[in-house]
Amino acid sequence: MSSKGCILATGGTGYVGSHTVLELIEAGYDTVVVDNLSNSTLESLNRVEELTGVKVPAYTIDLLDKEGLRKIFSKHKITCVMHFAGFKAVGRSVHIPLQYFRNNLGGTINLLEVMDEFKVYNMIFSSSATVYGEPEYLPFDEKHKTGGCTNPYGKTKFFIEEMMKDLFAAAPQWNIVLLRYFNPIGAHKSGRLGESPIGKPHNLMPNISKVAAKELECVSVFGDDFDTKDGTGVRDYTHVVDLAKGHVAALAVIDKKWGLKIYNLGTGKAYSVLEMIKAFEKASGVNVPYKIAPRRAGDLPTFWSDVSLVKKELGWVADKGLDEMCEDIWRWQKMNPGGYPGCSNGIQDMSS
Ligand code: UD1
Repeated sequence: MSSKGCILATGGTGYVGSHTVLELIEAGYDTVVVDNLSNSTLESLNRVEELTGVKVPAYTIDLLDKEGLRKIFSKHKITCVMHFAGFKAVGRSVHIPLQYFRNNLGGTINLLEVMDEFKVYNMIFSSSATVYGEPEYLPFDEKHKTGGCTNPYGKTKFFIEEMMKDLFAAAPQWNIVLLRYFNPIGAHKSGRLGESPIGKPHNLMPNISKVAAKELECVSVFGDDFDTKDGTGVRDYTHVVDLAKGHVAALAVIDKKWGLKIYNLGTGKAYSVLEMIKAFEKASGVNVPYKIAPRRAGDLPTFWSDVSLVKKELGWVADKGLDEMCEDIWRWQKMNPGGYPGCSNGIQDMSS
């Protein structure tokens, strides 16, 4: 085992998880993955292995299977858990809220209990900017109030944060980092790792890249009458490799035993939907047709991050700009037209 420690990545075959496993290996950590493969495939880890030359032990286990989890903690000397696993489709969460609560909250409770049994008190959690709800001011800093999320998916992120805060209050031997992501996009430079949604993509960038690749006809722009620079929604899009590096940086909190810490992982910059389409056209050299569609329920007009705290305390800055994000997505799209093998299944909408 390397001297830096062994990180268990739940959901480690997924989009953010797999990019982070790769960065962890490159930073000198051992990694172990558990994943139920409900929205991903082991192919992402094959590719991590191909890029790093390191084989990652991976277990197809659901976090609701507590006994299965115990076996992994018995087998590997885990020093820290990075908890990426969770259902994440906003729209679907509205239709099947109990499944979202059972899976995301139930899985997290099992994981924390097993960690406690094995005296592993270090946790880095994939949270989301969605916990901030309606902005009282912008950009969001970590002191902004949380809660008031409009959908069950967002609520699971908020409730898990609250659970972890209460756990830390009761048991201060824990070190817990809550990382609030702002719109992860992009792909690994190699074109071998990227976002591979099963079924019809819901998020903006996979839609844009599939339209550019002519897998979909045109992008529906959800609303052009918001109070924003051009009427379309404005977000803080962050390169997934920068996010992955943010997780490695967050291990400083564990090493220094700083207790519970919360950080935004974003760029501090904000772009509209139309700006994203234009940037993608520039990066790909391909025309991306779009049409204006009605607003999507629950969408906020604008939000972006204040990233001064994470810069000050962890020295982390997202240094990849918009052009690079779009170029990397386009490379991934061209090299993997249907996503990972076994993930492609055409464009079927699994959301309802
Ligand atoms: C959503 C979730 C967020 C989650 C993120 C990534 C909420 C409110 N947001 O963010 O928690 O972390 O997904 O999974 O829960 N858009 C279009 N056409 C499309 C798709 C999107 O115009 O086909 C627009 C949206 O209206 C929005 C922007 O593009 O203005 C970004 O949307 P999307 O990529 O879905 O991310 P968010 O909704 O910001």
